[in-house]
Amino acid sequence: MQRGGTKIRKARSASEAGRSVRPESTIDASISDAVAAEIARHMRLSVATSRGSALAAAVQRVMSRHGITDPYHLRDRIAADHALREEVLDEATIRETHFFRDSEQFELLRHTVLPDLCQRRAGAPVRIWSAGCASGEEPCSLAILCAEDGHPVRISASDISMKALAEAVEAEYGEWSLRETGEYLKRRYFLQCGDRYRLRTDVARSVRFTRVNLGFDRLPAPDRGLAGFDLILCRNVLVYLDAADLMRVAEELFTCLTEGGWLLTAPTDPPLWRYASFQTATTGAGLVYRKPMHVAREAGCEARYSKEASR
Ligand SMILES: C[S@@+](CC[C@H](N)C(=O)[O-])C[C@H]1O[C@@H](n2cnc3c(N)ncnc32)[C@H](O)[C@@H]1O
Repeated sequence: MQRGGTKIRKARSASEAGRSVRPESTIDASISDAVAAEIARHMRLSVATSRGSALAAAVQRVMSRHGITDPYHLRDRIAADHALREEVLDEATIRETHFFRDSEQFELLRHTVLPDLCQRRAGAPVRIWSAGCASGEEPCSLAILCAEDGHPVRISASDISMKALAEAVEAEYGEWSLRETGEYLKRRYFLQCGDRYRLRTDVARSVRFTRVNLGFDRLPAPDRGLAGFDLILCRNVLVYLDAADLMRVAEELFTCLTEGGWLLTAPTDPPLWRYASFQTATTGAGLVYRKPMHVAREAGCEARYSKEASR
């Protein structure tokens, strides 16, 4: 798949030339990839090149559900049909997550990052952002950790998917979401109702959910409370972004951090040290990023060339 490239223009001109409507089964895979990319662009959904065929398959699933045989018809309907747009977006995003996903990172958060931040905040709430929070398990894991250790916090959490955010606000989870949560925390922080687990209201209320499209919205956004974070978790999200958006988002996440603030990505996410002046450290939980205490204003400051980068 190419985004905005030759293939898209080719597909467009075929449509403009009066290409007849064809049944879904005969849609040529390469055209479908290109049109899928164009549809993503219409939805302002950033998609990594490697995700081209997955995106095309997602688009085709929605088309089948709605009996739409021409992808251009779907593209045109998306502009006016909000629900359809959301449906394509939900189909195209991977929202897999669970509580305390990547336990080494939560160990690092608990024993190193949060104590460091609390000490520096000296009693004021630590400001945390979970960017790409899916159905809320990640920010709620942080809320549980902070409640458990008595850290005052303000947690913001965001996602592009309204469906994911609606589930997050509901704060009710199945056993699968809690597969890495110990019995003690389960009993202490969740109310079991049949096979569902409802997060304690006081903990759920400490997380504020909002929609953010990292591929489109410009950050920081202080008017939306999206600035000045001591800690950002942006895990298993960057891997889905288009290369140009990834570079911009790296810079924006850097700007959203306070000096000395921490950024954690997932081990499988693309490295960010090339794109912003992060300091990096290799820990038992993998690579972590920090905004230096005194950010050099000049371009090419030393922090850019971190220990990790020079390997
Ligand atoms: C695999 S989940 C990761 C959830 C959680 N961070 C974790 O690591 O368990 C990826 C999430 O990123 C969201 N996402 C994908 N593209 C996005 C974008 N451009 N802006 C904001 N969120 C996005 C998806 O909707 C999905 O909920």
